[in-house]
Amino acid sequence: MKTNWWKSAVIYQIYPRSFKDSNGDGIGDLKGITSKLDYIAELGVDAIWLSPIYRSPMKDFGYDVSDYYDIDPVFGSMEDFDELLQKAHEKGIKVILDMVINHTSDQHPWFKESRSSRTNPKADWYIWVDGERGTPPNNWQSYFGGSAWNWDENRKQYYLCLFTKEQPDLNWRNPEVKKELFNVVKFWLDKGVDGFRFDVVNLYYKDTKLRNNPPKKKKSEIEFENYYNIFTKDRPETLLVVEELQELVDSYGDRVTIGEVATDLGVIQYFEYTKPGRLNLAFNFEFKDVRGFSARSFRDVVELTEKVFEDAAWPCYVLGNHDSPRFISRFSDGKHEEDRAKLLATMLLTLRGTPFIYMGEEIGMREGEIPFEKLQDPEGINLWPKRKGRDGCRTPMQWNDTEYAGFSEAEPWLPVNPDKDIVNVEKEQNDPKSILNYYKELLKLRKSSSALKLGEYIAVETDNPEVFAYLRTYGEEEKLVILNFNAETVKVRLGLSGSRELKPVFGTHDRKESLSLPIELAPFEAIIVE
Ligand code: NOJ
Repeated sequence: MKTNWWKSAVIYQIYPRSFKDSNGDGIGDLKGITSKLDYIAELGVDAIWLSPIYRSPMKDFGYDVSDYYDIDPVFGSMEDFDELLQKAHEKGIKVILDMVINHTSDQHPWFKESRSSRTNPKADWYIWVDGERGTPPNNWQSYFGGSAWNWDENRKQYYLCLFTKEQPDLNWRNPEVKKELFNVVKFWLDKGVDGFRFDVVNLYYKDTKLRNNPPKKKKSEIEFENYYNIFTKDRPETLLVVEELQELVDSYGDRVTIGEVATDLGVIQYFEYTKPGRLNLAFNFEFKDVRGFSARSFRDVVELTEKVFEDAAWPCYVLGNHDSPRFISRFSDGKHEEDRAKLLATMLLTLRGTPFIYMGEEIGMREGEIPFEKLQDPEGINLWPKRKGRDGCRTPMQWNDTEYAGFSEAEPWLPVNPDKDIVNVEKEQNDPKSILNYYKELLKLRKSSSALKLGEYIAVETDNPEVFAYLRTYGEEEKLVILNFNAETVKVRLGLSGSRELKPVFGTHDRKESLSLPIELAPFEAIIVE
C-alpha cells in the first residue's frame, strides 16, 4: 500500500504577516513567500502551512475571516496565491491552508445579515440567545478575557464569541451553515491546495442546553482558566462532523488534514480526533507545556503518545507555533540556548510522527520583547500584564542584518528582534556550525532514511535518567538516537553489553570515529548512530 505523503513529511509553518514583505508596507505578503520558495526548498521541508490569508479586518490577524473566497489585499491577490501555489508545486513543496470555520469576522456578510433582525434568513447562523442586557446567559468565558457573550442592541440578544468580540461563533447545528462551510473547503480543494489545518476544530459544537462550565477549585488569574470548559468544546457532534470533513477531503485523493485540538486532556484527545476515519493529524502540543528541561519530561510525552497512538494513529509533534513563546527562549538557561535548541531539533525531527517547524526556529529566533505600546495581539492587549500575548513569537523573520532584517524596506508591523545582527539567514548560511545548517543537514539525513521517516519507535533503557535514547527501525535499517539533556559529560551503555562499535552518522559534535561502549556524551550532545 502506498504511504500517505504527509506521514513522512516535514511541514513548515509560515505566519504570512511576518515572513517576507514584497511591497514595502511593513507587512509580509504572498509575493514575499513566493520569493523565498528557494530558501524553503533548500531547507528541505516538504510542505508549508500558511496561517490565514483570507480577507479579514485583522482583529485577530486573519483568524477573523470576512470572505473565505478572497485573499486579503494586505497579502496580495488571488493571482498571487495561484502563482505561489503553482511555483511551490513546481519545486515539490505542498501548500496547506488554515481553515478557520469555528467563527467568522463580525464583518462577514453572513454575520451582518444575521444581526440585522431576528427573522432574516441567516438569523440562526450564529449562536444567539435571549437574555437581559448586563446579565450574560451563562458563565462561558472568552479565551481572550471576559464573558464570551456580547450584547447586540439591535436584536436585543446575546451572541457568542469564544475569542475576540469581533469573532462570532458560527452555529454548526444549522444545516445551511454546515453546507456553506463545506463549500468553502471544496473551493480550496478544487483550487489544488494540499490540505488544511483546522483551527480550533474541537470547538465547533457547543452545548445546546447552555450549561455552565464547572468551576475549578484551583484559581488562575486568567478567568477562562478557572473553568473546565467542557460545554464549549469536544461535544460529541464535533467528532461526527470531523468524520464528514475527512470524507470530503479524502474524496480529493491524498491531501492532509491537521486538527488544532484545543484541549486540557492532552494526548488522549489528540488521539480521539485522529482515530481511523477522522483527521490525519492533530498537533501534539505537549512539548509546549513541558516545564524545565529534562530528558524525563520529554520522554514522558513521547512514551505516553506512543502508548496511546500505537498503530492506530500517526503522531504529530511541534515545539512552537504562532501562539506560543519561541521554544529556544522557553527552554533557555541563559547559557546554552543554541545547544538546547539543537538537541530539541534533533528530537523533533527523529521521533515517529510528522514534525512541524515554525518559521524562524531553524535559525534560532528568540522570543521578541514587545512593550505594551507596541502590542498588536488582542490577547496581549486584553490580558496585559497577566499575559503578554503572542506578538513575541510573531516578530519579523530575520533574513539579514540590515535595519529591518531584510524583511521589509519599511518599518515592520512588529519590531525586529535586536539580535538580528547575529541571528539571521544570510549569516547562518555561511557558517557551517550554524543552527540553520544543522537543521538542513538533519533534514537531509531524515529524507534519506526510511527508519527516521516511517520506522517504529523503540525506547532504549539508559543508565542515566537525563539521557533520552530510542531506536527507529524500518526493515533492516536501524537508527539509534541518543540525546543528552545534561549540562555535564555523561557515560551511557544503553543496556548494551560487550564491546560493540557504533557508527555515528550525525550529531551536534561532528564525530568521525566509531563509538565504543560506554559512550561518553558531551553536555547537550545529540548523536544519531547507525
Ligand atoms: C487558534 C489560532 O491558532 C489562534 O491564533 C487564534 O487566535 C484562535 N485560534 C482563534 O481563531
